[in-house]
Amino acid sequence: MIVGIPKETYPGEKRVALVPALLSKLKEFDVLIEKDAGLAAGFPDDYYIQKGAEIADREDVFQKSDVILQVRSFGANPDESTNDLELLHPGQVLIGMMNPFGNLLEIEKIAARGVTAFALELIPRIARAQSMDVLSSMAMISGYKAVIIAANHISRLFPLMMTAAGTVLPVRVLVIGTGVAGLQAISTARRLGAVVSAYDIRPAAKEQVESLGAKFIELVMETADTETAGGYARSMDEVFYQRQQELMKKIVSESDVVITTAAIFGGKAPLLVTEEMVRSMAAGSVIVDLVAEQGGNCELTQSCTIVTEHDVKIIAPDNIASSVSYHASQMYASNVVNFLLNLFKSGKTPIGEFASEDEIVRQTMIIRDGEILMKKEKIKEK
Ligand code: NAI
Repeated sequence: MIVGIPKETYPGEKRVALVPALLSKLKEFDVLIEKDAGLAAGFPDDYYIQKGAEIADREDVFQKSDVILQVRSFGANPDESTNDLELLHPGQVLIGMMNPFGNLLEIEKIAARGVTAFALELIPRIARAQSMDVLSSMAMISGYKAVIIAANHISRLFPLMMTAAGTVLPVRVLVIGTGVAGLQAISTARRLGAVVSAYDIRPAAKEQVESLGAKFIELVMETADTETAGGYARSMDEVFYQRQQELMKKIVSESDVVITTAAIFGGKAPLLVTEEMVRSMAAGSVIVDLVAEQGGNCELTQSCTIVTEHDVKIIAPDNIASSVSYHASQMYASNVVNFLLNLFKSGKTPIGEFASEDEIVRQTMIIRDGEILMKKEKIKEK
């Protein structure tokens, strides 16, 4: 079975779906890598060749491979992958992030090529799938990097410093949404010496936040029904979010840095930081909005850019995981190799005979031999 890794083509994307060190886990497969696919992440072609892979041009990778591994596969890179569509062939397997809740048209285009596609965003949150969970790996990187970005943009020091020139008070950081990214943001901000508060709609988050040495903000609200069976936050109604904004005003106004990560799986991010709240923050404060791609948690967020409003910088980083491409590739590749080995039972399962009783296989397979399996009502009609 041939596994192919094309170079990523999404603008600015530096990650690669396989790193050389993991080739030793793929002994049952032949691996074809597009020339320079790993270069931007710090993995030149020679490193792959030394571990037994073959280098090829893009057309060969697509045409010869039984399985294609990508970071941003077709649905998650619709513009740049148009030319690759005609290189796909029936029976071929695509594995990568595909933006499965995105545009139905994109999913239909891939399906029309007769392929089988696995969207890694849909990996279930079960213990057995943790080693394949690309969303968690990338969220961890985003949470860490968000704090570094904030530290870079704020004109204050993070830690308490008692010096001969006087005492410098620590920065006050508020993290809104304490899933994987938020918890990593708390740890990073604490390591830099900030005083950290955090808030999440799920009451279960309190213990995790406190175990990291941050203060958990409790709002007087009904939160009994805020978590889905899968552990994600439930989408609430406008009245709920308005009440939340009302109660959070004071804590936002007292924060120097606000990092927002509050997401609804497959849906629009809730609006939690209004313009009025931004106006109440001290001049020079910084907001890093990690969910800008899903609409943003801050009313003034503009995707992929930095704006200054009411003397507060609002930063919406673009493709943040790609800015740490070496480790992001290492983690992504580890997840994707574990997924591949589970899918093909280490090379023993022939293509087409996937174990649909396996929850991981069933939940991630969005197209089987050209047939769209994902429920269409879950995909946005554009
Ligand atoms: P996410 O990226 O979907 O959302 C980020 C956070 O925002 C979540 O904690 C969510 O509760 C919070 N949020 C949503 N609406 C909010 C609001 N209105 N106000 C404040 N906070 C709000 O979350 P992520 O990181 O994907 O984690 C979701 C859940 O999955 C968590 O319970 C996490 O512990 C769990 N998880 C389980 C794994 C496993 O068992 N294999 C792996 C990774 C995460």
